[in-house]
Amino acid sequence: MNIVITGATSGIGKQLAIDYGAQGHVVWGIGRNEAQLAELAAHGIHTESVDLLNREQTLAWGNRFDSVDLAILSAGSCEYIDMPNFDSALLARVMRINVETMGHSIEALLPALRRASRPHLVGIGSSAAYLPLPRAEAYGASKAAVAYLIETLRITLSPEQIDVSLVCPGFVKTPLTDKNDFAMPMRISVEQASRAIRRGIDKRQAEIHFPKRFTYILKTLSLLPRGIWKRIGMKMIKGS
Ligand SMILES: NC(=O)c1ccc[n+]([C@@H]2O[C@H](COP(=O)([O-])OP(=O)(O)OC[C@H]3O[C@@H](n4cnc5c(N)ncnc54)[C@H](OP(=O)(O)O)[C@@H]3O)[C@@H](O)[C@H]2O)c1
Repeated sequence: MNIVITGATSGIGKQLAIDYGAQGHVVWGIGRNEAQLAELAAHGIHTESVDLLNREQTLAWGNRFDSVDLAILSAGSCEYIDMPNFDSALLARVMRINVETMGHSIEALLPALRRASRPHLVGIGSSAAYLPLPRAEAYGASKAAVAYLIETLRITLSPEQIDVSLVCPGFVKTPLTDKNDFAMPMRISVEQASRAIRRGIDKRQAEIHFPKRFTYILKTLSLLPRGIWKRIGMKMIKGS
């Protein structure tokens, strides 16, 4: 397969690039960190530095591909809002990095996906979007937007036989979560995350979520009446 992975210079995207490369696929890994791109190249991965916030640069990069069988959009970031300081610049930054880069990537890669015989578009969202989590006002909102975007594309791209999957991880040990100052229940390794994602991609699952024990708890909690969840959420703030 010809595989394109954004966010390939770190964490989940990097592990996926290395694992797919080791399986003999032709992998293009995208990011901006030059040292990390060089490390990927040493694994036989084609690399390019692209700032996905730059629409023109991203579209020009996408134009170079003849056909892409699998595109995995993993670029993203996470920042938390600490009340009483509601920081709208933080909100805008997180929305741009998680949503706008995904929009640019999709626009750039759709022509090459359309030229593949069995194309598959995969967007990395988050289980944080399942329910309102304290401090995740910005991150959760961005991932809720990603979920809506990807899940709607699953419908609108189906007449063109383009499969679309949404990935909703729980906590995965990466530089993104290494910054967190709170307990991360059931955090798994990038190797485990890569395995779960590749398994889900093989089965072309609509939603790939893991670790299951954690994501099913969040899915169940999301069914609670919002008044009850508010009281639990307030206890989470006091406990942090
Ligand atoms: N780790 C978790 O527990 C977890 C849980 C749920 C969801 N997720 C999601 O999974 C995805 C990957 O997370 P991760 O933990 O692997 O994060 P990470 O280790 O921080 O990696 C983030 C990647 O995004 C790239 N990136 C950010 N801004 C970019 C830009 N403007 N242009 C190009 N590339 C850009 C970074 O590349 P450069 O630094 O080279 O620019 C890096 O490769 C994210 O969407 C995250 O929200 C993660």
